[in-house]
Amino acid sequence: MADAPGYPMPRDSRCPFHPPADVRRLTAEEPVSKVRIWDGSTPWLITRHADQRALMNDPRLSIDEKLPGFPHMTRGRAEAAKVTPALITNTDAPEHTRLRRMVNAPFTVKRVEALRPAIQKITDDLIDAMLAGPRPADLVTALGLPVPTLVISELLGVPYEESAFFHRNSTVAVSHSASEQEAQEAGAALFGYLDGLLGQKMTAPADDMLSELAARIKAGEMTRAEAVTMGVAVLIAGHETSASMISLGTLLLLQNPDQLAVLRDIDDPKVIANAVEELLRYLTIVHTGVRRIALEDIELGGQVIRAGDGIVFDVSAANWDAGTFPEPERLDLGRAARHHQAFGYGPHQCLGQSLARVELQVVYGTLYRRVPTLRLAVPVDEVPFAFEGIAYGLRSLPVTWLG
Ligand code: HEM
Repeated sequence: MADAPGYPMPRDSRCPFHPPADVRRLTAEEPVSKVRIWDGSTPWLITRHADQRALMNDPRLSIDEKLPGFPHMTRGRAEAAKVTPALITNTDAPEHTRLRRMVNAPFTVKRVEALRPAIQKITDDLIDAMLAGPRPADLVTALGLPVPTLVISELLGVPYEESAFFHRNSTVAVSHSASEQEAQEAGAALFGYLDGLLGQKMTAPADDMLSELAARIKAGEMTRAEAVTMGVAVLIAGHETSASMISLGTLLLLQNPDQLAVLRDIDDPKVIANAVEELLRYLTIVHTGVRRIALEDIELGGQVIRAGDGIVFDVSAANWDAGTFPEPERLDLGRAARHHQAFGYGPHQCLGQSLARVELQVVYGTLYRRVPTLRLAVPVDEVPFAFEGIAYGLRSLPVTWLG
């Protein structure tokens, strides 16, 4: 057993975008190994792309966090798991299939494409406001956080006049700068708010996700608690992730001007869509591993994973597996990277991936064209990274521009 020094392993501050060197060594030398996590337990750590693809789709694995031996991310999450109601993020088929069907419709490619003009307008308005404001600007608060907040308000059906409350609390709930207590209070405020809004949608439905959930409750297909918890889960899951991608992607591109030029100079949706996939691969912001538990004995890579063993899939390792992505440390927006693992794989792969893709295509495809002189306003080693969340990100990104 490889006794790795704890997971997630710290990144090298000189190249924070790269998965830790120890993880990359394991991918090359010991792709099915064990790792010690915060509670002293030693789940399996699976790092190769091919192994992850095979196992993440395997019904002998469970996501039921209540099972003894489940490799929880933190003590807080282990405690929360005891009381969390059934959700798509903690159930297996057939319950998972039932719950996911309830929330799938707003996230289909067709429905998300219909939102593209609204996402474009949100992005343009925010860039206008940033350009009209003082320099330097913080790209996290000017664009990174508001784009996903405003998009999710639209999707859930939050009325415009209440979007300031919604924006404030959802920003604090996932902000890397908020204290734990502030984040908890904001989360509770959102839960209460979404519960009230769901009640209104039961009597006065509109064309939005909460109204669809309200109809499911009325039809006896799901409980109100399940519906509200789902609304909050979608909000949180879809928020921190897209916000981090927007600010980290911009920082990475500012350090790779030849690649930034691709997005700035070529107005081809296919090129932009491809660039987004490579940025998702390269950054792989979910750095804390996708977690499961084995229900049966499973043989993999000459090892036997026993029933009851925890399993951690390091998706950043798979996305930097040189056997699948040659020269993984080279950012190449022209690379065919769509088979990356940034959204996971199998039944639990990201529900919001089409939405995230469109958000990122719009933001990356607009920002550098509209602000071609965008640059960092501080030395790169002063940009504050945040590694404590499920997804890593930036606390702030001071930028400026000419003209
Ligand atoms: C760049 C942005 C995003 C990244 C990198 C990302 C990443 C991921 C990953 C790796 C998983 C798999 C977790 C697992 O297998 O245990 C996942 C699941 C999920 N994501 Fe995302 N996500 C992003 C954006 C979003 C958005 C915009 C939403 C919703 C608005 C969203 C909602 C969800 C939900 C609800 C799940 C759970 C699905 C299930 O368990 O069936 N995500 N995401």
